[in-house]
Amino acid sequence: MAETGRFTLRRSPDEGPGFAEDIRAGLTAVRKVIPPRYFYDELGSALFDAICRLPEYYVTRAENELLGGYRREIAAALGGVRRLVELGSGSARKTRLLLDELAGPLEYVPVDVDVSMLQRTGHELLVQYPSLTVSALSYDFRRAARAVRSMAAPSGSTSVLFLGSTIGNLDADEATALFRDLRAVLNPGDTVLLGADLRKPKAILEPAYNDALGVTAAFNLNLLQRINRELGGQFDLRSFAHRAFFDDNLSRIEMHLVSLREQTVRIEGLGLEVSFTEGETIHTENSYKYDDEMIGALTGKAGFRIEKKWMDTKGWFAEYLLV
Ligand code: SAH
Ligand code: AVI
Repeated sequence: MAETGRFTLRRSPDEGPGFAEDIRAGLTAVRKVIPPRYFYDELGSALFDAICRLPEYYVTRAENELLGGYRREIAAALGGVRRLVELGSGSARKTRLLLDELAGPLEYVPVDVDVSMLQRTGHELLVQYPSLTVSALSYDFRRAARAVRSMAAPSGSTSVLFLGSTIGNLDADEATALFRDLRAVLNPGDTVLLGADLRKPKAILEPAYNDALGVTAAFNLNLLQRINRELGGQFDLRSFAHRAFFDDNLSRIEMHLVSLREQTVRIEGLGLEVSFTEGETIHTENSYKYDDEMIGALTGKAGFRIEKKWMDTKGWFAEYLLV
């Protein structure tokens, strides 16, 4: 644990399988897959930040507008919150809209897999908010509930923020399991504020994941670069292409890396050779798009009720208050 006054950082003692194990399992599976949490190394987080500024990626702008417009009402709905846990906190840029409105001493608990991001954001927030303490958790957010349970109980209530529709990167079972774990550590009066991207026409969704500048393609291909860098992989990035499309039946954007030719790639650090046929893909991300029924089903099974909902002016993004 690193500590400097109002900032602490706790690393997970048990992160389950690491990058090497997950890459081995994912690339030797019948349908090749890489879990999306591995996007976020230092370069990946910087690329995600750039995605948030793209004209096609409406998601961040919509949520920003929503939180900006309703910040007083939303902050009031969080009650006398004394501990604010944020899952997948990243740069916490939108979080500041709420922090501006929350009065009194507050413990902020950002949870993220990118440690450098936790450190940078934590220190920025301490400068900006003098009555804040930051207890950062370098954890997979699917395991964060346990860490929260082991922390000292706050003098008031706890709110959990899950913004940016990061929930959409989990499958329904994983999402419900996460909410069940959260419910087990929350008390009556505690709340969850869940940001969810809503279903909308393909003509809006698909460009958001196929931007003209190619930033999303770089974000996706960085996974192969990361394997090259950290595991001695020999991926030729020019032999793979980014592909993203909306599957209406599953209500999700799927992202893949497509092999442009038949090829075998050696990953030195794993002692592994991976063969690809031409057109074969590695499935790298799902991004579910929701309606009220889907959110109700995911969270209801875990024992939450939707208390309130706010939307941006276009009705593209929603913030759900769960109790
Ligand atoms: N909340 C911010 C960032 C969203 S990007 C926003 O709304 O803009 C997703 C963030 O979640 C990244 O910072 C990434 O590092 C983190 N993340 C992704 N998968 C994770 C996981 N399984 N556990 C913890 N953090 C994760
Ligand atoms: C973090 N997450 C909600 C983003 C999304 O839209 O699914 C990640 C992303 N992938 C491609 N662009 C953005």
